[in-house]
Amino acid sequence: MRVVAEARTNIALVKYWGKRDEALNLPAVGSISLTLDGLATRTEVTWDEKASRDRFFLGDVEQAGRPLARVQKFLDLVRERGGRAGHAIVRSSNNFPTAAGLASSASAFAALAVAATRSAGLELDPTSLSELARRGSGSAARSIFGGLVEMKRGERADGSDAVAAPLGQWDLRLVVGITGEGAKATLSTEGMRHTAETSPYYPAWLEQHPADLDAARAAIERRDLAALGEVAERSCLRMHASALAARPGIIYWSGPTVDAFHMIRALRADGVGVWFTNDAGPHVKALCSPADAPRVERTLATVAGVVRTISCAPGAPASLIEVER
Ligand code: DP6
Repeated sequence: MRVVAEARTNIALVKYWGKRDEALNLPAVGSISLTLDGLATRTEVTWDEKASRDRFFLGDVEQAGRPLARVQKFLDLVRERGGRAGHAIVRSSNNFPTAAGLASSASAFAALAVAATRSAGLELDPTSLSELARRGSGSAARSIFGGLVEMKRGERADGSDAVAAPLGQWDLRLVVGITGEGAKATLSTEGMRHTAETSPYYPAWLEQHPADLDAARAAIERRDLAALGEVAERSCLRMHASALAARPGIIYWSGPTVDAFHMIRALRADGVGVWFTNDAGPHVKALCSPADAPRVERTLATVAGVVRTISCAPGAPASLIEVER
């Protein structure tokens, strides 16, 4: 069976940074994110009983090394669930330029979870898909759902409660400012491991985190953008503070990243409801209302080194696009 699925990337407003179990990819903290419209991965999976190995194409380019190994490991989980013997051909493409460094394991593993299980004859509910997607990448568990999403840290050793769930719809905007091109220097998986092992601020990060989650959840319930924006900015800065304090410190920011932070705060001082967040790379994301998004986008574009801006509305859940027997 040939199946095509699509999933959108997401940006965390309360960050996931650190794991409580590496083998099952269980997060040390919960997180809250917004799934984004417009930045999507489309993945086609076909199982072939006669094939001797899995193959993975990104765009038209066949992948080897680490990207292929991650996909193979994920397909092993699908095989374990009893869906199918044999190997798969996986073809993935992003509808945004990969060179921009926005290529996201979140949309990739969410789309792969939906396509690979369905084409193997398995019918998983969204919670089970979220649990499976988490094994590929922690943030991918959130991209199974649309809009605002909460990922639970979970308590169980088997990870069955470390899953995401939707928090509802709220028409927000995240304006992405692309600061330069190229892949990030330290991948999130390595960055969080290094932080947990060497940063004296990591215990403080874990300790304050539940309060940030509570504050974000309450702000979302009240639809209070200023309160949500404040938590988002501080969660981002606290995550980076823990990484900066590692040995050696991890610096994900470039000059334009920091300039954009200041520009966003200046805009806020000018009365615009806008707050920044940023992940394991140099790009900046600004949270605001739909009405303010054009001004935020225009202003962000004036920062030297911001090469492109993309204004994103909340996106839909991961979904099946084609099923062909
Ligand atoms: C900074 O989900 O990429 O974007 O589970 O190791 O694949 P792995 O990590 P990943 O980490 C995302 C880190 C982050 C914050 C976030 O998205 O919550």
